[in-house]
Amino acid sequence: QARRKLVAGNWKMNGDMAALAELDAIAAAAALHPHVDVAICPPFTLIAPAAARTALPIGAQDCHARASGAHTGCVSAAMLVEAGARLAIVGHSERRADQHESDAEVRAKAEAVMAAGMIAILCVGETEAERDAGRAEDVVAAQLAGSVPPGAKADALVIAYEPVWAIGTGRTPTPGDVAAMHAGIRTRLRALLGPEADGVRILYGGSVKPANAAELLGLPDVDGALVGGASLKAADFVPIIAAA
Ligand code: G3H
Repeated sequence: QARRKLVAGNWKMNGDMAALAELDAIAAAAALHPHVDVAICPPFTLIAPAAARTALPIGAQDCHARASGAHTGCVSAAMLVEAGARLAIVGHSERRADQHESDAEVRAKAEAVMAAGMIAILCVGETEAERDAGRAEDVVAAQLAGSVPPGAKADALVIAYEPVWAIGTGRTPTPGDVAAMHAGIRTRLRALLGPEADGVRILYGGSVKPANAAELLGLPDVDGALVGGASLKAADFVPIIAAA
């Protein structure tokens, strides 16, 4: 089954109104590569101005599971949609660590994102200690089992495999390790979702740069990338789009 490549930028807690100028060059590059989907996930405060500025799909970096209520500091899926978001990242390892998000919570967030008509980019990945202990595939399998919503549709769910030790470090797994993990994720998704799993895109994330993008994006079952630091500047992000 053919899956469109997706290259998504996660700006994390970076960027300001002036940084939205980067979107213009990114959108121009995306137009030159129509077989690739390109999206940017800026901080909450920039979603509305970003969506007003560009035709690129704009996403959020998190989403609360509930529709409304006494949840100080949180933002609901409907609020994100109203602001112009079309995707939302859930379960990023930084939130799993810093905000102690559980698999069950991540699943509830993904369900809220999909129910609102957005695409959920659901992140999984092992720590370095877990990989060194030979537990990487088991850890990721457990995260998938606990956080992929049952009945999820392929057009609303994207998995991002991000080994925690590769995020922001300049280190990446070997191509063989990435390919093996993505194949393992596909197998787990088939067990969870049935044939629908064949349409779910599995992104690699963790120190994707212009220099390594072609190799990583060319691997079997790697359907794109979730890019952090290299998505902040068009000069870095555009070559990654071109490599997809
Ligand atoms: O969501 C993006 C990832 O955490 C990767 O970040 O590209 O800066 O390593 P990075």
